[in-house]
Amino acid sequence: MHPVTSRSFVPAFIAAWMVAATVALGALAASPARGATYAVAIADFAFAPATLTITAGDTVTWTNEDPVAHTATSTTGAFDSGELAQGESFSFTFTAAGTYDYLCTPHPSMTGRIVVQAAAPAPTTAPSAPSSTPGPGGGELPDVAMPLPDGEPSRTPLVAIGLVAAALGLAGALGVARARSG
Ligand code: CO
Repeated sequence: MHPVTSRSFVPAFIAAWMVAATVALGALAASPARGATYAVAIADFAFAPATLTITAGDTVTWTNEDPVAHTATSTTGAFDSGELAQGESFSFTFTAAGTYDYLCTPHPSMTGRIVVQAAAPAPTTAPSAPSSTPGPGGGELPDVAMPLPDGEPSRTPLVAIGLVAAALGLAGALGVARARSG
């Protein structure tokens, strides 16, 4: 390997690595995947707040502050803390939108609800919407649009034919003029 090559290769490699690292860090920083964490206290035989609205990807942490053991148990089996002694916590990350009712198994009158809203729609959803929206009238859009592309090219041959005819006419006129002069 020539010294010149190795000398230029190292800075190029470092520059490429720095660019890659910057891009990777930027992607991490911009990533909306990291959800927030919400706290629900279990105190005085009640969940506080009793109803909590979060976004898909967020985490809820229940902490029992009572000297009595409680649970946070989904009525649909989505999650179950098991018995939490005083000071113990249970966390669950909600990935799917929906309404999650839960209760305390030893004390079914203790109820709570987690409302999980869908995360912000992905950018791919917006572009696909317009393409599907013209569905009913979609049949007419191509019909209206077609004459325009057809009209443009059909004009071009006419202009070309006109230019050729004009050139032939000019050549013919010159030929006649030469024949007369000669
Ligand atoms: Co309880």
